[in-house]
Amino acid sequence: MLYVRILGSLPEMAVDEVRAMLELGGGRITGRDYLLLRIEADEKAFPFLDRLGLSHEYGRLLIEADSVEELLQKAREVDWPIRGTFKVDTETMANCRHRTLDLPRKLGAVIHSMGFPVNLSKPDTVVRVHCGERLHAGVMLRFFDPADFENRKAHRRPFFRPISLHPRISRAMVNLTKARRELLDPMMGAGGILIEAALLGLKVYGVDIRPEMVEGAERNLRHYGVKDYELRLGDATELKELFGRSFEAVATDPPYGTSATLAGRRRNELYREVLRSIHDVLKPEGRVAIAFPADFRAMEEAGEVDLKPIARYYQRVHKSLERYFYVFER
Ligand SMILES: C[S@@+](CC[C@H](N)C(=O)[O-])C[C@H]1O[C@@H](n2cnc3c(N)ncnc32)[C@H](O)[C@@H]1O
Repeated sequence: MLYVRILGSLPEMAVDEVRAMLELGGGRITGRDYLLLRIEADEKAFPFLDRLGLSHEYGRLLIEADSVEELLQKAREVDWPIRGTFKVDTETMANCRHRTLDLPRKLGAVIHSMGFPVNLSKPDTVVRVHCGERLHAGVMLRFFDPADFENRKAHRRPFFRPISLHPRISRAMVNLTKARRELLDPMMGAGGILIEAALLGLKVYGVDIRPEMVEGAERNLRHYGVKDYELRLGDATELKELFGRSFEAVATDPPYGTSATLAGRRRNELYREVLRSIHDVLKPEGRVAIAFPADFRAMEEAGEVDLKPIARYYQRVHKSLERYFYVFER
């Protein structure tokens, strides 16, 4: 059994991202306690869980308990997969119902008495207890360091445009398409989505209508060591003509309305044409993850071009921008 601790900012999107990765890697979500997911999967799922953007960490789940006493009791019977030294860390979620203040010390003492040495400053193994409705104890396998994502935020790239999504969200959009081999972003801007996709080993294809964006996206991709990319200057409403082939997956963040980024087009008309154009280059059952402002009727418009809605996630960016991230399937 495994656990995944998702982030709290877009929780439903985070859960579906995990689900998408388990559909690729094998496994399923069998329980949820607020931001803690219980997962049935084996090691084959690890490379796919390693892709996650909207999660904090994952690990082996060893104990679930309804009280501190029960947890300590069960801890004595666990075959702890501890390598070298260990320490116990507690994560208290907003719905935590237990007193966890001296839990690290108590659980540490139990595990130590079974022969494992403690090292509080540089442990080889971190034993994690997540407190929610229940207590969930396990061993952390992977921590998604926020610094990795921060390093790829818009202002850290050589070509800077303030229009970019947070890298964690870009990563989740890529994963929600369930791409295994390739991904197209037909309105790539500074290339934020493509960078996240390429770092997962996908071949990336990008389009933008403005030459400075195509140059800038290329600079950014190279800066992060990406070599397998194909970028084109062109119009996202003419993808079939531009590529003459179809794609496994598409993810994109169209412009929200300033005249410069819309390149002179009427916003909703552009969105409609882009949806049709994406449909025309998606392989059967291929998926697109796409963001639209909340006032655009994307579900209806996607239906008009035979794209099937899979999910949508709401986000309030600021006072004048509310948007949804959509996932559609051909
Ligand atoms: C919001 S930005 C994309 C930001 C990108 N996701 C990132 O993280 O850097 C939208 C981009 O769409 C481009 N664009 C606008 N109309 C287009 C069209 N018809 N075809 C292709 N690109 C277009 C704009 O030039 C702009 O760079």
